[in-house]
Amino acid sequence: MRKQCPVHQLDEDSLFAVSLAAVETGLKNVDHFVGSFGDSGDRAEEDSILAAIPEPRHGMIRKIFNSALAYHHASKAEPFVEQLATGLLDETLLLASKHRGQVELMGSYVRRIPSAVIAHVLGVPSKDFETFARWSDEVLARQGQDDASSSNRSLGEIHPEFAEYLDDRISERLEAEIPSEDVITRLLLTDVDGERLSRNAVRTQTMFLIIAGNETTRNLIGNVMQRFAEDETLYSRIRKDETLVAPLIEESLRVDSPVQLLARSCTRDIELDGIPVTAGQRVLFSVASANRDESTYLAAEEFQLDRPRPRDHMAFGAGPHVCPGAYLARMETRVAIETFLRRVARIELAPGHRPEPNPVFWALGPQSLHVILTPT
Ligand code: HEM
Repeated sequence: MRKQCPVHQLDEDSLFAVSLAAVETGLKNVDHFVGSFGDSGDRAEEDSILAAIPEPRHGMIRKIFNSALAYHHASKAEPFVEQLATGLLDETLLLASKHRGQVELMGSYVRRIPSAVIAHVLGVPSKDFETFARWSDEVLARQGQDDASSSNRSLGEIHPEFAEYLDDRISERLEAEIPSEDVITRLLLTDVDGERLSRNAVRTQTMFLIIAGNETTRNLIGNVMQRFAEDETLYSRIRKDETLVAPLIEESLRVDSPVQLLARSCTRDIELDGIPVTAGQRVLFSVASANRDESTYLAAEEFQLDRPRPRDHMAFGAGPHVCPGAYLARMETRVAIETFLRRVARIELAPGHRPEPNPVFWALGPQSLHVILTPT
């Protein structure tokens, strides 16, 4: 398809873009394409997730995310991630030791990291970390179950319990005498075009942030662990040379992109890689395909650790909506891998391990990973 039909007409109303040129152009062009899955920017702003808010409002709100998740803030979370990963791996190895080395790694280690990190960055109590992961999964599962008639529900309507919990955290911050440094406080107290965001808008964006950082990062760490379990040579090579961890993460993002698809609505007629797209049509942009485009990547299907520009991929999107959490995601993934490398001499798939399909249609990552671990 990339060679013969880079933008394919699925039906009258929708197209599927697969070449790197089409995906990059479409994602960068916010004048012609808006929205995301099930959210095309036509609902009240306070119920719209950041990814679906049209310019110029998107850019104004986005600045708050950028500053809150910027390197100098996000890097302060690194000692927390180190401590967290070490504690979780202790538990995982203890559990494995009771079952002749066998353990389900996604549940015991991988999945618990991103939700705890987001909760930490948001400044919510540590006792609630696990609940965050569950709620975040439930929102995605309920979105997946929605039929066409109910798919326009806001995040608050989809998960009232989650919304109520965040409403309480918002009230605490509005009542605090000394404002804290966390993301929720920043969203509440920063002026956007001369006024503050409403409580509902802050709740919507906070829920979105939790979900956006959770499913994605867990899949990235899980995809790396799966490669390790399937490829003994790769694992021992990385163990011998930790400088390869950074290119390994980038190559995993490229070849096993955690976000496989992004959706947009076209607002004005335009051509995409030579194919006309008309206002009102939906376009599905295949990040997964763009990242394997042979016109840009040599041996595109191969997993290689010595690509000349390892960060040149679309896994975090492109243009004004490019992922603001990329630094945090890379940092927590690096720490999760380094902690693992230093404590685990060998990882292999357990006999009988069966890959399960990911229920989130736009995501790629193992649901479970039954492995046998040999500690150092
Ligand atoms: C491996 C991990 C991650 C991947 C692969 C990833 C991927 C992406 C992609 C592809 C987009 C673009 C969406 C679009 O254009 O519609 C995006 C946006 C976003 N991501 Fe991430 N992300 C990751 C981690 C995170 C983390 C850790 C956070 C938060 C702490 C986060 C927060 C966001 C937000 C808020 C947006 C919307 C930005 C906007 O619309 O301006 N992401 N991410």
